[in-house]
Amino acid sequence: SFEKTRVAGSIASGALDEVSKIIKPGVSTDEIDKLCYEYIGDHGAYSAPLFYRGFPKSCCTSVNHVVCHGIPSSKILKEGDILNVDVTALKNGWHGDTSRMYEVGKVSVKAKKLIEITYQSMMKAIKILKEDICLGDIGFEIQEHVEKNGCSVVQDFCGHGIGESFHKEPNILHYGKKGTGEKLKAGMIFTIEPMINLGKFETKILNDGWTAVTKDKSLSAQFEHTVGITKDGCEIF
Ligand code: MF3
Ligand code: CO
Ligand code: CO
Repeated sequence: SFEKTRVAGSIASGALDEVSKIIKPGVSTDEIDKLCYEYIGDHGAYSAPLFYRGFPKSCCTSVNHVVCHGIPSSKILKEGDILNVDVTALKNGWHGDTSRMYEVGKVSVKAKKLIEITYQSMMKAIKILKEDICLGDIGFEIQEHVEKNGCSVVQDFCGHGIGESFHKEPNILHYGKKGTGEKLKAGMIFTIEPMINLGKFETKILNDGWTAVTKDKSLSAQFEHTVGITKDGCEIF
């Protein structure tokens, strides 16, 4: 339900607000994980990533060329790093999934531009959402903006339906053609979570079985919102 997703989404978003207060050189990604675990628990919710398909932590921390699913560890953040923190709260049986980018101290102009283009691409897609548009229209908005700016869209991971399950149909591709794919219906709830690379789009998974990185080691950025479709627009949870 929209009501329950709204509650879960606001807890997830609140956790990311807290993360922004501790990000600085010298902080470890384990400290970010601990903060998310505690904030979400203190709000009567579960961290859905914890033990999800064997994932060992409560959030994903994806630094620099890590595309997604980075595992929090004793790794220390340093000046100039960029990272995505991705949290998912499970409350009253419903999920809210969101992620943001953070800058550690002063970061390069290129990194800032990548982060800005990634955020803009997600928001451009969100702006067109309403009943009866096609899934391909979403991917088109993102891909057009990203490629116009000389960056690339990761194809190996996608957004997803969400609700009482963490990941369900449909897949939300972040690239595509206008007028193709399934039509949206009011009441659908899904995520939009484009992963955008400064270099080429290809990724590979490290030996830990989770961490996805860019093959060419270029920087990668991601934002994620959980959204609910209405007759004439959408709600961002
Ligand atoms: N939150 C991620 C997503 O946006 C999924 C993380 S699954 C985990 O879908 F196991 F890696 F945590
Ligand atoms: Co997601
Ligand atoms: Co997520």
